[in-house]
Amino acid sequence: MAQMRLDKLLSSTGRWSRREVRQLVREGRVLVDGRPAAATDEKYDPEHTMLQVDGERLSFAEHCYVMLHKPAGVLSATEDRRAATVLDLLPLELRKRELFPVGRLDKDTEGLLLLTDDGPLAHRLLSPRRHVDKVYYARLDGVLTEEDCTAFAAGLVLEDGYSCLPARLERLADDGVQSEVLITLHEGKFHQVKRMTASRGAPVLYLKRLSMGPLRLDPALECGKWRYLTKEEEDALLSLQ
Ligand code: URA
Repeated sequence: MAQMRLDKLLSSTGRWSRREVRQLVREGRVLVDGRPAAATDEKYDPEHTMLQVDGERLSFAEHCYVMLHKPAGVLSATEDRRAATVLDLLPLELRKRELFPVGRLDKDTEGLLLLTDDGPLAHRLLSPRRHVDKVYYARLDGVLTEEDCTAFAAGLVLEDGYSCLPARLERLADDGVQSEVLITLHEGKFHQVKRMTASRGAPVLYLKRLSMGPLRLDPALECGKWRYLTKEEEDALLSLQ
């Protein structure tokens, strides 16, 4: 990695703004190779320098992986002139890393969204050949039956003639009018869950993605919040063939 100013390096982690970095340095909380940093404009190569904040050693990996609990009302896009995008939910420092969402959730869909700057990983996760599974929780206006589960497993044919790959429909609960289901897909076509359940007479009222391949939405992550992937989560994703 090239040499970078200390404030730029530290703020690139997304944990502190440049102003906060200045404060940390003033308070002597930033160590460079074990010595308190003197100035924020000094340049270092993070591959050959040990940087610590409050005793914690920082790592400057090549790529950044963020789990977002997407709320309804924001677009899975990197920019839009009219509506808020998922990037608007990240701090400025992280937005500067040019992250993008891996796949799309509809504006009204909530749940797991991975954001990264790792193009090859995104490509692997989205490749139609790999059939990475995605699990959705849905609340439906209508009640699906065992017959519908069988039809999902066989591969639904949608109104426009598209033949879906076999999918898993699990019925969780119903009150005779509305129901809750889990749906596992191995592909990701436009409005797919909504079109699939609607084709069986039960339109989606609420939709949330729970997982994508080995990555599960952290139940402790509040709607609208983000966090970095853990090392274990990163390894599980990166080991996908
Ligand atoms: N299927 C849908 O219909 N919408 C989503 O956002 C994701 C899957």
